[in-house]
Amino acid sequence: MKRVAILASGGGSNMVKLVESMTGDHPARPVLVMSNDASALALSRARDMGVETASVDHRPFKGDRPAFEAELVKPILQADADIICLAGFMRVLTSGFVDQFAGRMLNIHPSLLPKYKGLNTHARALEAGDSQAGCTVHLVTAALDDGPILGQAHVDIEPEDTPDTLAARVLAMEHQLYPTVLRKFASGDNSPVILP
Ligand code: GRF
Repeated sequence: MKRVAILASGGGSNMVKLVESMTGDHPARPVLVMSNDASALALSRARDMGVETASVDHRPFKGDRPAFEAELVKPILQADADIICLAGFMRVLTSGFVDQFAGRMLNIHPSLLPKYKGLNTHARALEAGDSQAGCTVHLVTAALDDGPILGQAHVDIEPEDTPDTLAARVLAMEHQLYPTVLRKFASGDNSPVILP
């Protein structure tokens, strides 16, 4: 049984879907939900689902990323996690942290990578006049929003779309894509998932 740690900074809707998916004959189980914000809604939602939680506030480290990451890694090692899922985790991780989990740390990004790495992905897709948007699950490497793609979901952009209306439709696809990719990945299958 694979042990999964999920890192989230905010509401944790992706975390909830991942936790809810890991039941029955699923080859993985959640062992930790952790945040860089002790007040993150994701933590109370995880506790409500009976999942162990932890938090390490990044602010006291004042930009000393290695020092922050040295604390962040402790609950992950204590939980003996095999797979790390970043799900709305909004801190950039250094190669020092990423390399410890090479090939077993996943992230979901709200664009069709390699397009629109970074922030404000929906506004950028609208600005560019794209006909499609979507989300990507990828293995995490030291380069931001880079790394081998494990899955993508596509969403048609409508003429009246705003960043918010598009984000809502993409988020709904994220909630389908991430659990699908995690189940395959946990069973040892890295072949890409393409939705719809
Ligand atoms: C999602 O849009 C995800 O693509 C991005 O941050 C958001 C997380 O939302 N990484 P939630 O915290 O999972 O609801």
